[in-house]
Amino acid sequence: MLLCPNCQKPLYKEDKSYRCPNGHSFDIAKEGYVNLLVHTQKKTGDDKDMVKARFEFFKKDFYHPLKEKMIELIKAYDPKIVVDEGCGEGYYTNAIADALNAEVYGFDMSKHALKRAAKQTDKVTYCAANLFYMPLDDQSVDLVYSIFTPLSMPENRRILKEGGIFIKAGPHERHLYELKEVVYDKAYLNPLKEVKADGFIKIGEEKVEALIKLDNEDIRNLFMMTPYVHKSPQEGIQRLYDLSDLKVTIAFRIEIFKKNS
Ligand SMILES: C[S@@+](CC[C@H](N)C(=O)[O-])C[C@H]1O[C@@H](n2cnc3c(N)ncnc32)[C@H](O)[C@@H]1O
Ligand SMILES: [Zn+2]
Repeated sequence: MLLCPNCQKPLYKEDKSYRCPNGHSFDIAKEGYVNLLVHTQKKTGDDKDMVKARFEFFKKDFYHPLKEKMIELIKAYDPKIVVDEGCGEGYYTNAIADALNAEVYGFDMSKHALKRAAKQTDKVTYCAANLFYMPLDDQSVDLVYSIFTPLSMPENRRILKEGGIFIKAGPHERHLYELKEVVYDKAYLNPLKEVKADGFIKIGEEKVEALIKLDNEDIRNLFMMTPYVHKSPQEGIQRLYDLSDLKVTIAFRIEIFKKNS
């Protein structure tokens, strides 16, 4: 159940809005998400161009090996309440909600992303919310997952039930290696950083790796999704954008944590 971001009382859905007993009210946008960001929590999520590039890229299902693995892993825990933090356009969220018999929440700060996510399904409760201040009660969630998002382990721990599961997916060492070889003079493997997860124990790790073949439009969309878009040399970007196709490794590291008592 969602909580009011102003007074932390439960929110009840009434027609086209959510209301708390103290009279705070939050409208559901026509696309189907609710904005629960209060002033102090506001930051900007991903912008419209970034969101559009990701949406176009995901339409071609290049990341389905990660999507299928996430579904398999999450299903094994049979969770009843699930949170996707930093859900973006709902590529994973909607597929996971379809595969489970569970209440699924998708939180993101980007309204551009949420509009696209919410339009595609009624099975997920999509909210504009900051993942560092999730509008959920303490110990109310069975499983939280994060795919390429900032992490707030204390907040994850707060909302998870005892023994609850947190799954993190991010880049493995060779993720997008060939793309970096084009853009940079020298490409490096991605460093594998350990998550600071006080109050959790790590119970598993998986690797998903595949080679995908991209055309020029896919290359541009994929590049727009990466952090490299902000920090690459112009000549390197031009070299990449001039390619008609490219084979790229996608490699994901999935880590599974369990909340300790
Ligand atoms: C790289 S995208 C990943 C989106 C999605 N998980 C996926 O893999 O397709 C990161 C997402 O996190 C969101 N985000 C970043 N900081 C956030 C925060 N503090 N609270 C909620 N969402 C956040 C961005 O708006 C963006 O949609
Ligand atoms: Zn309230």
